[in-house]
Amino acid sequence: MTDKTSDKLKHLLPDAMTEPKSHAELMKHKRLTENAFPHVRMRRLRQNSAVRDMVRENQVQVSDLIYPIFVEEDIDTPVAIKSMPGVVRETEKTLTAKMKEAQELGIRSVMLFGVSHHKDHNGSDSMSPNGLLARMIDRAKQAAPDVAITADLCFCEYTDHGHCGPINRHGDVDNDKTVENIAMQAVIAAEAGADIVAPSGMMDGQVSGIRHALDVTGFTHVPVMAYAAKFASVFYGPFRDAAGCSLGHDVNVPAHRKSYQLDPANSREAIRDALMDEQEGADILMVKPGMPYLDILAKLREKTELPLAVYQISGEYAMIRLAAEAGALNYQSAMMESLLSFKRAGADMILTYSALDVANWLNK
Ligand code: PBG
Ligand code: ZN
Repeated sequence: MTDKTSDKLKHLLPDAMTEPKSHAELMKHKRLTENAFPHVRMRRLRQNSAVRDMVRENQVQVSDLIYPIFVEEDIDTPVAIKSMPGVVRETEKTLTAKMKEAQELGIRSVMLFGVSHHKDHNGSDSMSPNGLLARMIDRAKQAAPDVAITADLCFCEYTDHGHCGPINRHGDVDNDKTVENIAMQAVIAAEAGADIVAPSGMMDGQVSGIRHALDVTGFTHVPVMAYAAKFASVFYGPFRDAAGCSLGHDVNVPAHRKSYQLDPANSREAIRDALMDEQEGADILMVKPGMPYLDILAKLREKTELPLAVYQISGEYAMIRLAAEAGALNYQSAMMESLLSFKRAGADMILTYSALDVANWLNK
């Protein structure tokens, strides 16, 4: 306030703001804001933690969490992933202990990602009953029978070129061949003991292809969690290091997945694509990534009655962990707030690399 203004307003101010006065004296004076308050005061319900707890609309529970685990074949000890502090590539053996730990913490589901040493053009190891995909599902199920195994279905971890399906003569991923293959992969996963299958390749028709294949092979009870709105995001970077499926090594194929994953600029297209998966028979729809796409999650919540999942991806996890390591954020508080934002936007379940930490915090 300039001196001039404050002089003009002086007669309106309670004396307390000019010089200290007794309470009784103060009460005699009119206040600048007298009669200006509404009858509704939002702060009534924020005044203490008991009241705040009573009116809280959303909360994160251990049963909301799906824990992604990397499993690398042919290694002797777990390997740390530099860009994702706290995350490792398990060996096939150490997967057993990880599963038991998750089960003891009350985690209801895990998602397994194979790190293959047997890559080829089609990713055929993942369609073999003795391949890494089948082996790790079987081992995880044996170790923790109470934990639902959600099998990520895709080929990028198993192809030598790193794309999510075989490449056609135009140098692009062959949609219909990939659907054929992923239907086979789904049956392999179900036979190995997967409780849920989650196709992540963003191929057209993959959900109905998988549904059909599961139904004719007797796996009518296995639900499909569709990566329904999966964007071509730069935030997948740390995952591609972790799973060994980064692009750009093979000059004959595109160094990106923009011909099958969604354009980050598009909202209506994302909703169309997700609702298409529902029509094809998906039981659960997923939005991925999470935080940069909360608008898509909230919009989809309005358009479908299906349960919704959200994937807090590697880059989001890395941002929070690395900011915490740099002293800029508190890991626990930042993580819990970001998970809460998913629940608020409409997610029923959350894939997060922090699942074990979160379960530990919530169980305290
Ligand atoms: C592969 C797949 C990716 C992720 C899950 N499955 C990477 C990609 O599409 O490039 C990303 C997970 C993450 O970043 O945490 N189909
Ligand atoms: Zn893929």
